[in-house]
Amino acid sequence: MSDKFSKIYDLSIKDPEKFWQEAANDIFWFKKPTKILNKSNPPFYKWYEDGVTNTCYNALDFHIDQGKGDKTALIYDSPITGNKSKFTYEELRSKVSKFAGALKDQGINKGDRVIIYMPMIPEAVVAMLACARIGAIHSVVFGGFASNELASRIDDSKAKLLVTASCGFEPGRTVEYKPLVDDAIKQAQHKISKMILFQRKDHEVKLNAPMEISWDEAHANAKDTDCVEMNSNEFAYILYTSGTTGTPKGIVRDIGGHIVALKWTMKNIYNIDADDIWWSASDIGWIVGHSYIVYAPLFKGCTTVLFEGKPVGTPDAGAFWKIISDYKVKSLFTAPTAFRAIKKEDPEGKFFSKYDLSKFESLFLAGERADPDTIKWAENLLKVPVIDHWWQTETSWAISSNCTGIEMMKTKYGSACKAVPGYDVKIIKSDQTLAKPNEMGDIVVKLPLPPGTFPTLWNADQRYKENYMSNYEGYYQTYDAGHIDEDGYIWIMSRTDDIINVAGHRLSTGAIEEVLSEHQSVAECAVLGIADKLKGQLPIGLIVLKAGVDKDNETITKECVQMVRDKIGPVAAFKVAIVIKRLPKTRSGKILRGTIRKIADSVEYKMPPTIDDPAILDEIKEDLIKNNILKSA
Ligand code: COA
Ligand code: AMP
Repeated sequence: MSDKFSKIYDLSIKDPEKFWQEAANDIFWFKKPTKILNKSNPPFYKWYEDGVTNTCYNALDFHIDQGKGDKTALIYDSPITGNKSKFTYEELRSKVSKFAGALKDQGINKGDRVIIYMPMIPEAVVAMLACARIGAIHSVVFGGFASNELASRIDDSKAKLLVTASCGFEPGRTVEYKPLVDDAIKQAQHKISKMILFQRKDHEVKLNAPMEISWDEAHANAKDTDCVEMNSNEFAYILYTSGTTGTPKGIVRDIGGHIVALKWTMKNIYNIDADDIWWSASDIGWIVGHSYIVYAPLFKGCTTVLFEGKPVGTPDAGAFWKIISDYKVKSLFTAPTAFRAIKKEDPEGKFFSKYDLSKFESLFLAGERADPDTIKWAENLLKVPVIDHWWQTETSWAISSNCTGIEMMKTKYGSACKAVPGYDVKIIKSDQTLAKPNEMGDIVVKLPLPPGTFPTLWNADQRYKENYMSNYEGYYQTYDAGHIDEDGYIWIMSRTDDIINVAGHRLSTGAIEEVLSEHQSVAECAVLGIADKLKGQLPIGLIVLKAGVDKDNETITKECVQMVRDKIGPVAAFKVAIVIKRLPKTRSGKILRGTIRKIADSVEYKMPPTIDDPAILDEIKEDLIKNNILKSA
């Protein structure tokens, strides 16, 4: 381990309180914390419990106070609509402070929940920061989720108000949000009291006053509103993520730790200073969007890019290079799938040669495993370091990474580099003992987790404890498996639960199975993620029909595909359901999903000794060949 990095890392592990006390000096506090870490009630740790601060103040006002009000905070570029705009810190604060007033006019106060279901437009960022300004807890829901998912989030969060837009734009289609929201509100048991809808130009929709009002109407009497003082351990937001069942988990973020940790990462992990232009090509509906489109770059006081487009098709595979060149972006953070999409369309990088990327210094990838081919392709083209780093919605910032602002480390292709300061990462083997270097096992992080991670789940302390903190006492279970090599590099190999990763989006196969099981002809089913060259993994459904079903298979599978789209959303990218005769199971009735997945991925597998009937595996192979999932040998 190199000296500078290892000294910083060691301090963070040996004396986390000292380490995070120093980092806390870099943010604005109304009242500086004197208690850094409360360890009295594990696994519920509290960072900075007597500190008083405000998220929005740290994102905007703090920089304006330092005379940086004229600096560009946000660049919006939407190749999909042709719109572009820039907002200085002063301009953004003015919008946020007015919308905060609008929220107050609608009865929103500290602690109230506000759902934000919006496309990638500046108003979405304004809504998030306005919530933070008045201490309301936002819960952003990704636009690619269906009504059913939105309804479950309304119910769980018991939101008072929902902010949305008339539509979003996907290549080739307009996503009409209003009917989706209407349907969600109808489905939800909990009734929200108000909807504020941003009318997009030429796509205005009819609103039913007084419950539904437009963004402009909401501003009619709105006054500028100041930041409220928030206790450090109050919640900034809830972000729902896939769990092992269909019920999503509400990851919560406490205020003080979130600001301290994210601000620290901008320099130390990403080597970004206040004068830099930073771009995270994700969506505000995901954790990467929360942390690195909105919060961390604004806490740092640099310029962040909000991009409403795709790496390909808006209009071509040069879209990313254009943004980097137009705005002199220093570093980009996106998912490997975006680069696989560009590579597929423009393998020789012809578009790339049209742009000036002389200011571009590094590319960060996360969200799924970055395959070495893609990393090498990107390195060759960009001639800058390409850094794979590993993190989760639960943590909100990287658990392992090359900390480029501390010291650039060498790349090991296929590894997400070393544990970041703050994270004491270990591997635990199936016999519950700690692994030696290179031995595989469950990846865990010794408690306490650093600031900015999740102190609990929304209204579900017990689920938090049981799900994450109980299997290995004193450790956070990441549900990723892998190993750490002799140099301390972490290798993330697979998930240990039913989560799959589709185009960098986290999905639960269990949730898709729940939907398929609702089809009246389906007796049982298994959903698995199979390897896909573009999206990393794609879900496929294997369904067994009830006896006596007389509908044809094609109709049933089409209905199943539509049901998943309607209930989970297009983001599930669920396009393939196959009718099979029976599912392979153990003698105790457990479906052998791992074995089926290996067959589908043409990976060698051992015949499970507990299988009830080995012949089923050949049947499945034939079915997969018939459906073009597998090639015949
Ligand atoms: N609102 C509504 N629908 C959405 C949506 C949104 N915000 N985002 C995606 N969808 C839809 C897509 O239109 C698509 O629908 P379709 O089945 O009708 O074609 C479906 O959800 C699947 O979307 P996606 O998985 O994004 O596939 P894609 O083929 O449209 O694009 C990529 C593939 C690789 C170009 C795209 O996933 C991408 O840019 N990913 C990288 C960045 C990223 O999102 N990272 C996330 C975490 S860092
Ligand atoms: P999400 O919570 O949506 O960010 O998904 C987190 C999961 O994505 C992790 O638990 C991993 O399984 C996977 N993941 C994220 N980053 C990486 C990475 N760099 N390498 C391998 N897997 C990753």
